[in-house]
Amino acid sequence: MLLRMSNAELVILRELIAHAPDCVSGTALAAKLGISRVAIWQHMGKLREQGFEFQAIRAKGYRLQKKPAGLHATLIEALLRSRKRDFPLTVLDTVDSTNDECARQLAAGRPAPFVVLAREQTHGRGRFGRVWHSHDQQNLYASFAFRPHIPPQRMPTFTLWMGVSICELITNFCDVQAGLKWPNDIVFDGRKAGGMLTEARIDSDQMRDLVFGLGLNINQPAGSWPTELACRATSLAAETGKPIDLNLFAAALIGRVFLAYNQFIAGDHTETLAKSWPNYDVLRGHSIAVLNGTQRIEGTAAGIDEAGSLLLRNTRGQTQRFSAGEVTLEKVS
Ligand code: BTN
Repeated sequence: MLLRMSNAELVILRELIAHAPDCVSGTALAAKLGISRVAIWQHMGKLREQGFEFQAIRAKGYRLQKKPAGLHATLIEALLRSRKRDFPLTVLDTVDSTNDECARQLAAGRPAPFVVLAREQTHGRGRFGRVWHSHDQQNLYASFAFRPHIPPQRMPTFTLWMGVSICELITNFCDVQAGLKWPNDIVFDGRKAGGMLTEARIDSDQMRDLVFGLGLNINQPAGSWPTELACRATSLAAETGKPIDLNLFAAALIGRVFLAYNQFIAGDHTETLAKSWPNYDVLRGHSIAVLNGTQRIEGTAAGIDEAGSLLLRNTRGQTQRFSAGEVTLEKVS
């Protein structure tokens, strides 16, 4: 069996993670990979250079003792539940925007799906071209690239469905409940922990490709935000009071996003979305103003309809619908 270097390291990490806290012998690893024990030792040396530490126990083998804290592509792959490598993953040190990088790779013909993560973005973007703070390496900046074969008319519920799925993951992983502020904010008590940016390219009436971007503040400490974000931003660690394993979370996120995407494509999401949205909807029952061009309409948020539009009960008691592409929201005190 001929294995690329990174594949051998992936297999070594998978074996050690799968057997933890037990040891795995060098002989077993060598047999699994079809290479010599010396070659195993060399691969482990390469992993040590990347921040891994192994404990060697005589007559028993190796145990993974320390993992790098920063984003690490091979470690994320080793932690992914699915062994099928059907969503290749790239981790970049720095990039303008992971959404832009996915768009460029899609335009260059890279087969989808794939995932691009970056430790830092120089031009992280949000809705309506707003800046997304992307300089803290303890957060996640992730984009997922797809080529869906569905009519574009089905897209308006996509970000909402992803939001519900990511909130469920946060609850399971961190044991805290995040909220969703229609259409794309992940929040805790009015502070934003995450934002989603879905960008689709449509040719005549066909989807050409789709990029789903997620910025999620993971371990950024409470006091470390730039002044303009100090009272608006939060992170999962600040909410839970505990540091989050960035690579473990990234692996869980990738699995969850692909599951949610497949459910969406199959059309299996509509009932669950309708049932789950109210559990996370932080606007429902609150007075808000919808800004639509030069228009400002005040009313009470009343959930979403089956097309994912925001329902607003206006001051005359009528219900108006707004789609996400058109409007921004303001809180009314
Ligand atoms: C928003 O809140 O308006 C959406 C923010 C989306 C930010 C993420 S970070 C990863 C991806 N790359 C970007 O440039 N934007 C998204």
